[in-house]
Amino acid sequence: MDRRDFLKAAGAAAAIIGIPGTTLAGPSGLGDSEIEAKVAEVLGQMTLKEKVQQMSGWLMKDVLNAASIKGKRYTGYTPANSRLGVPALKCLDGPRGVGLFYKSTCFPVGAARGASWDPDLEERIGVAMGYETAAFEGNMLLAPCINILRHPSWGRAQETYGEDPHHMSLMGSANVRGIQKHVMACPKHFAVNNIDDSRFYVNAKVDERTLREIYLPHFKKCVEDGAASVMSAYNDLNGELCAHNDHLLRDILKGEWKFDGLVISDWVSAVEDTVEAANAGLDVEMPSPENFGSKLERAVKRGEVSEAVIDEAVTRILRQKFRFEVDSSNYDASMIAGTEHAGLAREAAHKSILLLKNEKSLLPLDANKIKKIALIGPFADVGNIGDKGSSRVTPPYTVTPLQGVTEKLGPGVEVIHDNGSSLSSAKKKAGESDAVILVVGLTAKEEKEGKDRLDLDLAEGQERLIKTVASANANSVVVLIGGSAITMGDWKDQVSAIVMSWYSGMEGGHALADVIFGDVNPSAKLPIAWPKSVSQLFEFDSKAKEVEIDQYHGYRYFDKNGLEPEFHFGFGLSYTEYEYANLRLDKKTMDKNGEIEARVDVTNAGKVAGEEIVQLYVGYNGSSVERVPRELKAFGKVALEPGQTRSVSLKVAAKDLAFYNVENGEWEVEEIDYFLWVGPSSNPDGLLAESFKVSG
Ligand code: BGC
Repeated sequence: MDRRDFLKAAGAAAAIIGIPGTTLAGPSGLGDSEIEAKVAEVLGQMTLKEKVQQMSGWLMKDVLNAASIKGKRYTGYTPANSRLGVPALKCLDGPRGVGLFYKSTCFPVGAARGASWDPDLEERIGVAMGYETAAFEGNMLLAPCINILRHPSWGRAQETYGEDPHHMSLMGSANVRGIQKHVMACPKHFAVNNIDDSRFYVNAKVDERTLREIYLPHFKKCVEDGAASVMSAYNDLNGELCAHNDHLLRDILKGEWKFDGLVISDWVSAVEDTVEAANAGLDVEMPSPENFGSKLERAVKRGEVSEAVIDEAVTRILRQKFRFEVDSSNYDASMIAGTEHAGLAREAAHKSILLLKNEKSLLPLDANKIKKIALIGPFADVGNIGDKGSSRVTPPYTVTPLQGVTEKLGPGVEVIHDNGSSLSSAKKKAGESDAVILVVGLTAKEEKEGKDRLDLDLAEGQERLIKTVASANANSVVVLIGGSAITMGDWKDQVSAIVMSWYSGMEGGHALADVIFGDVNPSAKLPIAWPKSVSQLFEFDSKAKEVEIDQYHGYRYFDKNGLEPEFHFGFGLSYTEYEYANLRLDKKTMDKNGEIEARVDVTNAGKVAGEEIVQLYVGYNGSSVERVPRELKAFGKVALEPGQTRSVSLKVAAKDLAFYNVENGEWEVEEIDYFLWVGPSSNPDGLLAESFKVSG
């Protein structure tokens, strides 16, 4: 009997009894046993047709055109069953706030929030997004996006938190926990989705170790933290469509990880075959019943899909619907993009805006010494919030850099504006000002869902504008807007200060002014390695039918190949200086089931208070398998007054050092020597080093 037959006959039935494990009480307040009893009772009364209805997305065109449901519109919908008291599934996008149909809080994009390295903040953002989803009467937010950024060319780079699985695990799971205070979260896109031009057909060919160690750990962490749902990706993984991929969905997600939620498909033709998808463990087809619906009913009647498989899927759907059944009338609509959430969006932007260069301490600018300042460039007075695809959010307002600076400086300072379309005009205005803020970068024209960015440079005209303005005024600050690395070439040396503001959301202009004038000391660090040029990287073939993926990308790739990036993973400047000293470990030998604690003293050696993100990397000496030179295993943030020293503790569990042994399908912690480094970034030059052993 092959695996599929086995499942048909028996395996799926086990799931109906209930998989012990990951369900955590949801906002409905019902406990596990109450939910399971309710599910069993309802399921027992359902006809096949009713069950299949639960698994079949409702016609998207109805939702989009006519029919909003009682005046509300959803990105995806499966019907309620009023006879049995089953609520509808009402999904809204997406990872940076609630889209697409409503005015809601527009937070900085995922990449920006990744730069905050701040899971607590990310959890609070999740709570706010979940609240707004519930206030719009939705019960699932299609977030977070936790695909590893394998190459900065990915058009959806802005939606995800960065390139590292440990960092992604902590940021993504924090977002899930926050969202799920109110509604279901849906970590996406499962899995290895990182090219957009070819996303509907590309086959990601990934060896099992790389899959387990690099591309899946963050999904597992979200499942462990109770994610109610997971969205399967568009692409193929090792020759099998993700929505049909029983290794991914049944063996790993539902089997090994004991995921007890529902798997929903991605939206546009992500499913191709009724029987394959249902048997592989896809629970809901979105957004319309192309393959499920009546086709699925017929497949059951023909015996190609067993009723046990249907019952398993419906059990999962009902379980989460009951767990997340909330009364939306308890939600206050005035909270949506209200003062509190806007304040959170501003805080998030403060903590994500990243200082890349600051020669001669040009920043912060001293507002008292400025009589006239020029805001120049195509985005100086544009609310450029990023992608217009499924992650689009429509905020009630967006503060532009010009507005933020004008408001900050008040009537005593002359603020002039030039969109940079004429070099001579920009040059003149730069020359007559005390300082210049030059806002350049990208928009959804260059990078978005469905469009990769093959050229990582700025548009030529923008590079010329930077050089022209910098030659006219030495106090020029370049502000970059974008979702991932923007290569710099020779303009980098011609300016004193560079700020990466990402797509910073509706409060971005305020936050930028707060950082530039020193009300906020920047603390963000790069969640990606930033190349000097695209030629430093491996090829990104956005039209490829198949891509071979190994464990080397981002800083792992730079380190392996001895390449020097423009900016290292984890890098980011501040208005103060931090000194690291006295790295010590609580033990030299760690037990295989144990944990090691590293402590380091961090001193604020400058004149202003700040927050420093302290990073811990591990390397492997004498491993039986090929390991990356170093990888992030812990990080933390410490707040320091000028002159203050604090000891920072970072812990690593032995199990987090394991490799996935493909021979026996086990995670193996090796009894070898390990290197441990702590410092301000992944740059080996700035790291303090120690070593330890693991023994049985
Ligand atoms: C995207 C998903 C999104 C869905 C619904 C798809 O094209 O890949 O991320 O949630 O559309 O808008």
